[in-house]
Amino acid sequence: MLKEAINVIKKNDRGGFTIPTNRLYPHQWNWDSGFTALGISLLDKSRAWQELIMLVNSQWQDGMIPHIIFHENNPNYFPGPEQWQKNSISQTSCHSQPPVLASIIWQMVKRGSDYDQMKAGTLFNSIIAYHRWYFLARDPNNEGVISIIHPWESGRDNCPDWDIGLRNIKIPKDLKKYLRKDTSHVDDMERPTDDHYDRFMSILQFGRNCNWDKLKMHNEGPFLAIDPGVNFIFLRANRDLLLLANHLGYSNHIDEIKKWIKVLEEGCQKMWNKNVNAFTAYDRRSNTFCNAITNASFLCFYADIGSKVQKQFMIDHCKRILDICNFGMPSLDPNHQSFESKRYWRGPVWSVMNYMVNDGLENENEYELAEKIKNDTINLVENNGMAEYFDPETGVGLGGKDFSWTAAVHLELLKERIDLKLQNKFKNKNNVLN
Ligand code: GLC
Repeated sequence: MLKEAINVIKKNDRGGFTIPTNRLYPHQWNWDSGFTALGISLLDKSRAWQELIMLVNSQWQDGMIPHIIFHENNPNYFPGPEQWQKNSISQTSCHSQPPVLASIIWQMVKRGSDYDQMKAGTLFNSIIAYHRWYFLARDPNNEGVISIIHPWESGRDNCPDWDIGLRNIKIPKDLKKYLRKDTSHVDDMERPTDDHYDRFMSILQFGRNCNWDKLKMHNEGPFLAIDPGVNFIFLRANRDLLLLANHLGYSNHIDEIKKWIKVLEEGCQKMWNKNVNAFTAYDRRSNTFCNAITNASFLCFYADIGSKVQKQFMIDHCKRILDICNFGMPSLDPNHQSFESKRYWRGPVWSVMNYMVNDGLENENEYELAEKIKNDTINLVENNGMAEYFDPETGVGLGGKDFSWTAAVHLELLKERIDLKLQNKFKNKNNVLN
C-alpha cells in the first residue's frame, strides 16, 4: 500500500502543489497541503517545502492564509473565486482553515537537516503573521478563544457542531442561485445536505457584500462559533512555533509566542461543557454549547490541555466510543442523535484527524488507545484504499477516492518502511509504481 500511497500523491501533483483529489477538489487546500507536505517530506524534501511555499505565497497582506488557492479555473468545483469576491482580485477563498502549518514545519525541521532549517527560516515570518492574524481577526475582543466565521473554516464542514448556528441563519431572499458540483462526483448520502449548502452560501454572500471585513464578520456575520478543533490545533501550533523559534535562535519572537500560548491555555477552558463532561463546540450567536463529542474534542491531548479530572473524562469518552464502533475515531459520538455513519463529518473516520488524535494520546502516555487508533487508520487504508473518509461500522471507503492527505498520513504512520528505492521512484517523474 505504500506504493499506492505514493502513486496517489504523484497523480494529484499539479506542479509544485497537490490537489486533494481529482474533480471533487481540484485546487490547493490549506490544511490538506500541510499534511500532504509532511508525507512528501519522507520522499523528497525539496518538493515538500515547495508545497508549503506555494501555499504561503498566497498569504494575504493582513496575514491570513486562505483555505483554498485557485491556481487555475476549474469548472468541476463550486464555489469558485467569483463566488467569494466581487471583481475577485485574489484567486483564493476568503477565510482560513485549521492552522496546522507551524506544527507541520516543526515536524519537518525536527527530523530534518540544515536544509530543512534553512527552508523553515524563510517561512518563519509568514507563520508569525498568520498567527497574529488569527488573534486579530478571530479574537478581536481579546477573549482568549478563536472563533470561526464559517463552518468551512473548521475543516469539518457539516459536523453537528454547527447545526445550531446554521439553523439560526436567515437565508436571504435574494440568495444568488447556484448549482452544486460536489454531488455530481459523490453520492448525496455522503455529502452535506442542500439545506446546509444554502446556509453555507448565505455566509458567503454576506462576506462578499462586506468584502470580508474582519470586524463585521466577527461581530455581525451570520455565523460565529468556537471550534475545539481550531483552538486545540492553534494552541499546539503555537507550542510547536515556540520550539521552532528556539531551535532557529529567533529569540525576539519568543515572548510574543509565549503570551499566545498562555492566552489560549486559559481560553480553551471555555470549551469545557459540563452538560456532557467534555470539550465541545460553542455557538456564539445563541450562546449555547453544542453537546456533540467529536473527534475534534479529543484533540485536547494534542494540545495538551485540561486538568487531571478533565483528561480522565476525555479518556473515558474515548474508551466508550472506541468500544461501540469497529473503527476509530468516528467524527461523531455514535450515541449522539445526529450520528450518520456515512455522511461526511457526522460519523465517518478521517485519517488526518486520527493522526493528531494518535499523537496526542501518545503524548499522554495512553499507548493502548493511541495504538488502536493508529492500527485502525492503517487497516482502513490497507483494506479500502486511500478514500476521503471511512464508515466506522463497516470500514468502507467513502467520498472522494485517491485522496492525497489520506495517502500522506499512511506514509507518515509507516515511515520506518520508507527506503531509498521508494524515494527514488517518487522523484522519477514518469514512473508510476506497480
Ligand atoms: C472538505 C473538508 C475539508 C478539506 C477539503 C479538501 O471541504 O471538509 O476539511 O480541507 O474537503 O479536502
